[in-house]
Amino acid sequence: MAILKILHFPDSRLYTKAKQVKQIDSKIQNVITDMFETMYAAPGIGLAATQVNIHQQIVVIDVSENKNQPICLINPNITSADGQQSTEEGCLSVPDIFEQVKRAENITVQAINKDGEQIVLTTDGILSVCIQHEIDHLNGKLFVDRLSSLKRQRIKQKLIKQQRNK
Ligand code: NI
Repeated sequence: MAILKILHFPDSRLYTKAKQVKQIDSKIQNVITDMFETMYAAPGIGLAATQVNIHQQIVVIDVSENKNQPICLINPNITSADGQQSTEEGCLSVPDIFEQVKRAENITVQAINKDGEQIVLTTDGILSVCIQHEIDHLNGKLFVDRLSSLKRQRIKQKLIKQQRNK
């Protein structure tokens, strides 16, 4: 097991589109284990493979209070979305920044779990937000890309300054 390095905005690698996972072999299983470890250590409630510079469609999520409800979605695909909610979002790739983002309220997502089984999940609230946020990552999109360009520019400057001071 290993804690992986998380890329930070505006790293251009975060804009890579992830490829479909063709086969869930031991290599993919190890990536999933490391992603959960990295997410829990951060700590965060979701992590997409893109954020650790692995460009395959894998996300790990755990929005439970006791961190005992891990969800792994491979090749996730949102098949229906309706309603609207606005939630304050953050991201491990955009440290210390929190902004309101509008997203669908109810979603249904199809995916493969870590055992290679097809799953269908219908959800709302924070889990729905988290799944949409992580799928955005796989498509090379960050939550700051859903904000005004002025706001995004401000955040970019702040993070570049932060990274320079490290
Ligand atoms: Ni994120």
